[in-house]
Amino acid sequence: LEPLDPVRYMSNRSSGKMGYALAKAARRRGAKVTLVSGPTALKPPRDVTLCLVKTAEEMRQAVLAECRQYDVIIKAAAVLDWRPKETAEHKIKKGRGVQTLELVENPDILAELGCSRGNSPCILVGFAAETQDLIANAQEKLKKKNLDLIVVNDVSREDAGFEADTNAVKILYRDGHLEELPLMPKEEVAEQLLDRIKSLREKSL
Ligand code: CTP
Repeated sequence: LEPLDPVRYMSNRSSGKMGYALAKAARRRGAKVTLVSGPTALKPPRDVTLCLVKTAEEMRQAVLAECRQYDVIIKAAAVLDWRPKETAEHKIKKGRGVQTLELVENPDILAELGCSRGNSPCILVGFAAETQDLIANAQEKLKKKNLDLIVVNDVSREDAGFEADTNAVKILYRDGHLEELPLMPKEEVAEQLLDRIKSLREKSL
């Protein structure tokens, strides 16, 4: 989230469920896991290093500090693309007419990771939250952010994407291969994704 003043903030509908399910499943498989999380109402999984952040810049700092020690980075967070240009120290009062909110762009954490990865064998996975032209948009993100795999979410569906306990994702690979998974609980999506990531990792070694 991005604070506007001490009582207001910008955020979005993401619940964090997909990211938490991935952290839990990876831990259960024996991985060492750091979960960098924005504010959520979820209970963190046991035995993972939890790094709680608020803003995109805080998330960026935490991810960059942790990323070098990991073989796989999965970026499931719905990061805000913009933040208010200024955060007021005191509550902004009404009565001064209609205010215009000036926004500035946030850093793209995943693009930064992808563009600086060189030939590291680390597997980089992104998510794409889309409401239209799902595959074309996701393909562009995969290329631009230099990813190994992108998980495509149709966030206009009620039973998938934001807030839901279930998800119906498409998995798009670097070589253009596309795989469609049926609707299933996010815990099961996490398992399926980790299976795919494991084989990519094995192939890259
Ligand atoms: N992401 C990120 N930092 C940002 C924005 C997005 O690391 N400032 C990551 C997300 O965690 C996700 C991927 O980039 O893995 C795609 O995020 P998404 O919101 O789907 O797309 P954007 O790149 O923000 O593009 P747009 O909002 O135009 O669809």
